[in-house]
Amino acid sequence: MNGGGKTTPTNASSGTGTLANLLHEQRRFPPSSDFTAQANVTAEAYAQADADYQAFWDREAGRLAWAQQWTNVLDWSNPPFAKWFVGGKLNAAYNCLDRHVEAGRGDKVAYYFEGEGGDTRTITYAQLTDMVCQAANTLADLGVKAGDRVAIYMPMIPETVVAMLACARIGAPHTVVFGGFSADALRTRIHDCDARIVITADGGYRRGQPAGLKSAVDEALLDCPDVRSVLVVRRTGQDVAWEDGRDIWWHDSVEQASTHHHAEPFDAEHPLYVMYTSGTTGKPKGILHTTGGYLTGCAYTHWAVFDLKAETDVFWTAADIGWVTGHSYIVYGPLANGATSVLYEGTPDTPHQGRWWEIIDKYKVTLLYCAPTAIRTFMKWGAQIPDKYSLASLRLIGSVGEPINPAAYIWYRDTIGHGRTPVVDTWWQTETGSIVVSPLPGVTAGKPGAAMKALPGFRVDVVDDEGQPVPNGSGGYLVLTQPWPAMLRTIWGDDDRYVSTYWSRFPGLYFAGDGAKKDDDGDIWVLGRVDDVMNVSGHRLSTTEIESALVSHPIVAEAAVVGATDDMTGQAVVAFVILRSEAGDGGPDVVQQLRQHVAKEIGKMARPRQIMVVAELPKTRSGKIMRRLLKDVAENREIGDVTTLADSTVMELIRSSMPGME
Ligand code: WTA
Repeated sequence: MNGGGKTTPTNASSGTGTLANLLHEQRRFPPSSDFTAQANVTAEAYAQADADYQAFWDREAGRLAWAQQWTNVLDWSNPPFAKWFVGGKLNAAYNCLDRHVEAGRGDKVAYYFEGEGGDTRTITYAQLTDMVCQAANTLADLGVKAGDRVAIYMPMIPETVVAMLACARIGAPHTVVFGGFSADALRTRIHDCDARIVITADGGYRRGQPAGLKSAVDEALLDCPDVRSVLVVRRTGQDVAWEDGRDIWWHDSVEQASTHHHAEPFDAEHPLYVMYTSGTTGKPKGILHTTGGYLTGCAYTHWAVFDLKAETDVFWTAADIGWVTGHSYIVYGPLANGATSVLYEGTPDTPHQGRWWEIIDKYKVTLLYCAPTAIRTFMKWGAQIPDKYSLASLRLIGSVGEPINPAAYIWYRDTIGHGRTPVVDTWWQTETGSIVVSPLPGVTAGKPGAAMKALPGFRVDVVDDEGQPVPNGSGGYLVLTQPWPAMLRTIWGDDDRYVSTYWSRFPGLYFAGDGAKKDDDGDIWVLGRVDDVMNVSGHRLSTTEIESALVSHPIVAEAAVVGATDDMTGQAVVAFVILRSEAGDGGPDVVQQLRQHVAKEIGKMARPRQIMVVAELPKTRSGKIMRRLLKDVAENREIGDVTTLADSTVMELIRSSMPGME
């Protein structure tokens, strides 16, 4: 068995024990009067937005430069298919780049890039604009036209941002595939959105080692005959295979291209990008975001939630660009607002465990945004590490991706924020495009573990099984009750799935897939997923997708996967497999083999923490696997009600085969 350690349930994430724990949380952290005095947003914003949310977004869209004014803020005549800023035209890249240069801010730093190995680059808005124009010209030379999809599979380097904005500039929706995904996962995404061009790098640095990316692209493309060009950035200098006629070096093409490129305006609803995310079935969903509403949502929330002062702040989202957090708060939000950001390539412990704090001191980072899983890791490493650094530049810190447990919130606030900085616990999703529920840092008295309230312009509720709002003090399902600008428009190529996944459970309401509760003040505590989606270190993984990966291995007959509470990663993947009879007991390294197989099929982050080889799985009489019971086992709890099992002895059998269980 792999890593059979016991997991102590915490009050970190989903689970029934959580509610009672959280209800006892009494601590409140109001902003200091100094912070409030200078804050971008005041409490009046809620009432103003509530009075007329469309008028509110009408005003907020004015943050952007439009080539043509819209005629209608929202067309909701065919719900749930929204059109925002109808008739408006704009170019996303122009909004993120040229207009700042034209306004005389070309010398302002867009990114401080910090390579894992310590190499650095400072890139101004003027330079970034030139780079993006060059890449846009190269893509156009490669025959990419507005509407064509481009896949991007890159490390965390400035060229990744350049590639995205070059696509946006010519109206070609990008689909960025996180570099941790396998060749197989890349291939399915290329197929699903029919991308004909791939942008990648030879590799990137990960824990001091060059990790290959081009090699995975080569493998993926064995089965993608329609991909005609692969644009390759040289990052590590490692050897790569080369296919003449298909592969093109970035430095031979983009870096030689003209820096002049006219940014043509596109319709507000022109597709900006497709981001794949795990759903409850094995097939990832391509979440479609469009231009005007998405950019408005990112720009407003980045300004409001982080209290952004574009002239003076240094903003750092410590996430990967391959996830939505990177799209909205490393690329589109900060650039639309003309902010300065840090872009860090590597892991927090390379070459030492103080790397993040060193970066904060070096660039005088004022606003930090990261995931609870990172915070819990830093807690484990100990306060003595950040204590060696000043961290005095920080004035606000944020969290995203999973519920932050109160202990982690307090540690973050005290040890990193020195008890001084507001903490914003922001709830949102790939689908929502922008932050939806969050404290307003100059207004809200934060509660450790609560995402608090919908931001101005958004409306959320917690409802029961019938879709009725629950009273304060009760739990239910988190929903959005009115459309918002950065909302997904559909699932790429699958309108029906869009409707059935998000809008059918509660007609007229957007179902987020999360459980939540309203406390006695009506504030919102997000409890985690209520569907078959796990959240491991802030990465969304589908139980079904991992089960399919396991079953695709020739020795596996059947598999069931559950997300078990884990101190460090929030949830961890635990798999139960039945082997085919011809495989016998699978041999001594069966667990290793299967973990490796999941890494190959999906990516390393999906590897199960534990794999139990079992003889039977608990099933209902109609043959449905009862994951709830397996979760009890994985979390080392008393096993719940087994009366609906076809064979009630199965659970005894499974439990007796577990390590460390009696
Ligand atoms: C979870 C990441 C609690 C939630 C931006 C959601 C959170 C899923 C929070 C989306 C939070 C995100 N508190 N849970 N502050 N933020 N989640 O699409 O389960 O990768 O549905 O988007 O993460 O994950 P995704």
